[in-house]
This record gives sequence, structure tokens and C-alpha cells, in this order.
Amino acid sequence: KVHLTSVVLGQEIHYFSEIGSTNNEAKKLATNGCPEGTIVVAEAQITGRGRLARGWFSPPGKGIWLSVVLRPPFSPMDAAKCTLMAAVGVNRAINSVTGTGCGIKWPNDILWQGRKVVGILTEMSAEMDAINYVVIGMGINVNIDQQDFPSEIAATATSLAVAAGRRISRVKLLTAILAELESTYNTVKASGFAPVLADWRQQSITLGQQVDVRGVERHFTGLAVDIDADGALLIKTPNGIERVLAGDVSIRPA
Ligand code: BTN
Repeated sequence: KVHLTSVVLGQEIHYFSEIGSTNNEAKKLATNGCPEGTIVVAEAQITGRGRLARGWFSPPGKGIWLSVVLRPPFSPMDAAKCTLMAAVGVNRAINSVTGTGCGIKWPNDILWQGRKVVGILTEMSAEMDAINYVVIGMGINVNIDQQDFPSEIAATATSLAVAAGRRISRVKLLTAILAELESTYNTVKASGFAPVLADWRQQSITLGQQVDVRGVERHFTGLAVDIDADGALLIKTPNGIERVLAGDVSIRPA
């Protein structure tokens, strides 16, 4: 039985034993006017989507495949920071429930010992200067055995159960995620993004590391020194500070 401690998040729950993508369903519900805090969860996704047109491995009963609908009173320009906000809330929930010491890789992957345990895909709809909705999709590898990952990601992915050395309750984790995400969201609404960006810096595993940046038209290496007020990653290179707002970075092994 689920006893939610969040007030807004999870006030309407759409549960599926199987679905294409919870993000697609959440966008459909959001377009049709569902209330803020509506969530979509599924035991399995057939066509789970990742960033940069990748897929997301979503086997039945082994993860939390979750999408949350927000209607933030922010400018569309702040939407990218919603992803950082989600990463902070989810990472805090994960660490308090599992004690595994996971950290955030810019912008929003959650890693344990260099392997990915959570991916976040944020999608937005905006008109003029206002956000209509933001869907925050979270894929959390909870009880996946290491040998069950597909070969393409076997070396780079892991699960919280592997990290903790025990099975993790998805209900407890989901409850904690909704509570932490709600509190992070309330902080942003009350005080802006600065406190959340400060928390992000604390939980980051990217800052202070040598990173490789692979953009569409550029590829370079440098030292990740900070994020700025927009959530962009600042990288010190021989040519000065480079700013990366979107893209893929990988942390170079020391
Ligand atoms: C990434 O790291 O590339 C983001 C992965 C996001 C996966 C989640 S699972 C729930 C939601 N529904 C989807 O189709 N994708 C997100």
C-alpha cells in the first residue's frame, strides 16, 4: 500500500502494467488538461525513450519508469533547469533510501561508481512566454541484475540493487522521490533556482573532473569548473572558459 507524503505530486496516478512510453502518455494527459502533479508509472515500457533519440531499457517490475507533469510558473528559458532540479530531488531520495552514495553527472544522469542508474528526459510545451507543461521522465534502474542489461549498456549501466547489495522497495523509493521532488520544486517556486543549483554543485560528480565534450560541431576536453545561473557547464580549456548548455559530456578516467 502506498502512503504518499507529497501533496501535489501523485495527486492523480495513471498506472500501467505495460505502455509504450510514460512520457508520451504524460504529454497526452498534459495536453488534455490534467492537473499539475499527475504522474504516469508503468511496470514495463515497450518503447522507452532516452535523450538524443536513444532508447531506454525498461524491463517489467525491475525499475521505476515514471513521468511527472508540472505546470511551473517559469519562463520557457528556465525549463532546462527543471531537469537539474529533478536530478537533485531524485538523487537525494535515492541516497536516503539506499545509502549508496550516488552522484549527479552533468546535466542529469545519476551514477554509481561511474555507471548510470538513473536517466532523466524532460520535455516541454510552451506558448508565447509561458510554459504550458513540463513532463519530467525518470528511468530508475532499481532491481535489475547486472547480467540482465543488454550488451550495449552492460559496461556503463547498473542498478541500485547492485549498488546496495540488496533488493530495494520500489514503493518506498517512489514515495521518497515524489516527496523530494516536491520539496525541491517548492524551493524553486519560493526562492528561485539558486538554492537548487547550490545543491546540484554539492551532489555533482562532474565538477573538478577532466571531461570530454562531444557536441554536434565541436569536440574538446577541459576541466569542469562550475555551472552558471542557466545551468550551463563551464569548462576551463587552454583557449579560455567554454560554456556548454546542451550535449554529452563524459568524465575522463584519471
Ligand atoms: C536518458 O538518460 O537518456 C533519459 C532516460 C529517460 C527514461 C525515462 S523512463 C520514463 C520516461 N519515459 C520514457 O520514455 N523515458 C523516460
